[in-house]
Amino acid sequence: MISSALTTCGLLQLDLQLCDSVTSQLSSQLRNFPLDVPKLFLYLLMRHTITLIPGDGIGPEIVAATVRVIEATGVDIEWETQILGAQAQEKFGTTLPEATIDSIKRNKVALKGPQMTPIGKGFTSVNVGLRKALDLYANVRPVKALPNIPCRNPELDLVIVRENTEDLYAGLEHVVVPGVVESLKIITEKASTRIALYAFEYAKANGRKKVTAVHKANIMKLSDGLFLECFYNVAKDFPEIEADDKIVDNCCMQLVMRPEQFDVLVLENLYGDIVSDICAGLIGGLGLAPGANIGELGAVFEAVHGSAPDIAGQGIANPTALMLSAVQMLYHIGEKDAGDRMKDAILAVFADGEHITRDLGGTAKTNEFARAIEDKIKAEATAAA
Ligand code: NAI
Repeated sequence: MISSALTTCGLLQLDLQLCDSVTSQLSSQLRNFPLDVPKLFLYLLMRHTITLIPGDGIGPEIVAATVRVIEATGVDIEWETQILGAQAQEKFGTTLPEATIDSIKRNKVALKGPQMTPIGKGFTSVNVGLRKALDLYANVRPVKALPNIPCRNPELDLVIVRENTEDLYAGLEHVVVPGVVESLKIITEKASTRIALYAFEYAKANGRKKVTAVHKANIMKLSDGLFLECFYNVAKDFPEIEADDKIVDNCCMQLVMRPEQFDVLVLENLYGDIVSDICAGLIGGLGLAPGANIGELGAVFEAVHGSAPDIAGQGIANPTALMLSAVQMLYHIGEKDAGDRMKDAILAVFADGEHITRDLGGTAKTNEFARAIEDKIKAEATAAA
């Protein structure tokens, strides 16, 4: 089960090479075919239908910029636009409509903008709800600095594997007596073993050398103790990969002081959420950190950051994190060539340094940044023709 979920993760280079060679062969055959039945058949074979969720706040702006760049690569995608959260509540009377869940189940892939969750009141998180509904148990977040972006650690290159379905995110809270609230932290052997296995399989498939479990088992001896026990049980089957662990507070300090010691981190849901933002800060900010939610029923690609209501509607959001998530998505659907071209164009725009968004010290608007990437992709295609 784990390995099949892993093979759906766009970061697996071994699978990607295979997908790439199949896709390249199809592409070259397609170019040589006249417009006839075989060409039409191949064309349909290469077509993808993907669920698109624009989201809230800056979501629609960064999703539009990302779709525009994906389409510049020439990859053939039919987008099925769906909604969640407050928008869905208004239209369908539920924040997690069946139409959206069914669309992702049918297409197996979604590209998603951030969704707002009201703080301290109102509806429960649709992000958590979606991950649970589709059992998207592994949240994979690569953290790598980009060229030309001043940041605390330009050499940082690690991957966060966050358990996505339980922990304090179970949302089981109640008032015991007025003034006393209990929030239940759920940790199970099944989910802890599954995420540890995913992390080790991921490390093995991607040439990573070490997996570190992050926990607070010195205080939460039963819950985090179980997580850690499952981790070391799984580690026994991967003698070629170093396994160690860090207490979460120490891990945060070490990430800032000596991040080079980390390779793959595996964490429970809450620690994974917090540590992801620390790592985003180390490489230059939330605008740069991509992610993928992977499960057996499908995969949802989204940035680490939220809906950024403070800058929504101004056209200044940085779409890089979502664009890099989309690169992972292209790999995942077997479009490695398009994914590589998109990634190279993003890196080239950063290397040029002329179209940098405000969060990184530049003046480019979301659309200007997207256009610069689009131009790079088109220029490369022209040069290669
Ligand atoms: P946030 O990530 O939306 O924003 C934090 C800070 O980073 C803000 O100053 C914002 O302007 C900046 N920022 C974030 N993304 C940026 C981008 N692409 N370009 C430039 N600047 C960017 O976190 P916050 O404010 O805590 O949460 C806002 C809402 O987002 C909440 O309702 C929260 O529940 C939701 N959220 C949704 C997530 C998702 O859909 N996966 C993930 C995290 C939060």
